Amino acid sequence: MWRVKSLDAILATAEKKSLHRSLGPIQLTLLGIGGVIGTGIFVLTAEAAQKAGPSMMLSFVIAGFVCAIAALCYSELAAMAPVSGSAYTYSYAVLGEFVAWLVGWALILEYAVAASAVAVGWSGYVVGLLDHSLGIVVPHALAAGPYAGGIIILPAVLIALAVTGLLVLGTTESATVNAVLVCIKVAALSAFVALSLPVIKDANFHPFMPLGMSGTIGAAASIFFAYVGFDAVSTAAEETKNPQRNVPIGLIGSLGICTIFYLLVAAGAVGAYGAQPVMDAAGHAISPGSPLLAARCDELTSVAGQPLVCSREALAHVLRQIGHPIVGNLLGLAAGLALPSVILMMIYGQTRIFFVMSRDGLLPEALSRIHPKFKTPHIVTMVTGVGVTIAAAFFPIGQLADVSNSGTLFAFAVVSIAVMMLRKTEPNRHRPFRTPLVFVIAPLSIVGCIGLFIFLPPAAKLVFPVWSAIGLMLYFAYGYRKSHVARGLMEVPELSPDAPPTAVPPMPGAPAPGGKD
Ligand code: ALA
Repeated sequence: MWRVKSLDAILATAEKKSLHRSLGPIQLTLLGIGGVIGTGIFVLTAEAAQKAGPSMMLSFVIAGFVCAIAALCYSELAAMAPVSGSAYTYSYAVLGEFVAWLVGWALILEYAVAASAVAVGWSGYVVGLLDHSLGIVVPHALAAGPYAGGIIILPAVLIALAVTGLLVLGTTESATVNAVLVCIKVAALSAFVALSLPVIKDANFHPFMPLGMSGTIGAAASIFFAYVGFDAVSTAAEETKNPQRNVPIGLIGSLGICTIFYLLVAAGAVGAYGAQPVMDAAGHAISPGSPLLAARCDELTSVAGQPLVCSREALAHVLRQIGHPIVGNLLGLAAGLALPSVILMMIYGQTRIFFVMSRDGLLPEALSRIHPKFKTPHIVTMVTGVGVTIAAAFFPIGQLADVSNSGTLFAFAVVSIAVMMLRKTEPNRHRPFRTPLVFVIAPLSIVGCIGLFIFLPPAAKLVFPVWSAIGLMLYFAYGYRKSHVARGLMEVPELSPDAPPTAVPPMPGAPAPGGKD
């Protein structure tokens, strides 16, 4: 189970695939921002405030820092092995099949569960927008999950199914659409900052850390979700001109821009409207996503207006409360337009990981079957879509995001280990990008990932080992025996020569092979 798929075999695969190198630093940065800005900032700001109060501003910095150092480790491997499968593929080459399986299995949490979380976030904005702009009230039973006294989050179900349908039909987002959506998101956040910062009140920042440093780090562990998605940049390394220079620019550039926006938005939300956590009768903060918080929020909203931490459309709510209802609705519209592209990228990323794992023989090969007409991996896409939809229908967004974070943090930590190991085992291999001070940065990244994991809520920390245990059982029951590497089928071409050219569609937001949009 420690068998590796050699880096040379992986590179031979990449060579065959040979995508056209057309992405420059600006497109890469846009790709990163397109994947990153989403539910995290638009919705989870409320959850972060419930955990940290005004110090959630610090939480954004902590989470952004851990992501940035993990991104530097990602970049080295992505530039060396610019092939599909991201952390799963790197682990297969360096740490062996067993770890690769665990990482691939954890990436299901990162991608599929994140897609569910973003679908739930989208639902909050659309429900609010329908109400505030058209006066259409979606019944509570259809707009909230059982945890908040509802039955099903119907809009989240509909958007997850719609995006899955588009992916089955072969839709990938073009670079132009991505650029337009990035502009919409950035314009919405800029408007928020421009309107909220001037009306900041000093008093809203006190107490700054109502739940202590542990609350602040706990919020960082959750708000980490807001940064997930930058690995879109590393997986597009193969389509990038001069990856040595441009991949790190794209990664660090998109993370840097997002961090600045997130800080300004957090400062605006805290300062203009206030972001103190809601407490129970005994003066303890209530867990986000709990029935107790939903009940307490209902009480407070009927008495004194909805606190930030109770809103499902945090940023639009703040704008409405500080006297800009129309801009608030426009921001809601921007979120409604732009968040589906994040869902698309996440489901797409998931199908790509499944596809590669099934092509390696670790999952049934039927999963990587290509639809004769649409030329898409339709089975894997539908399986993913159904899973994403079920999770989106019933679970609170914060819990989904936390579970997703647990898988992502594991994958990031493994990548950080892999980058150091490869420096030792293959010091002379050509590295188009080298992580600076790797023996400082990579251990720091591992400590950061473990630290944030420890501060996740207990339920998310429990889901991860249970999920991994299920994965292990599956591995020993299936992949261990069926693995292509185990059976000596080492050289598996990325695309069989007679497969249709669109069998593996390019990264959403990246140009198609051949450089066309
Ligand atoms: N970072 C992405 C979001 O916040 C996943 O929606």
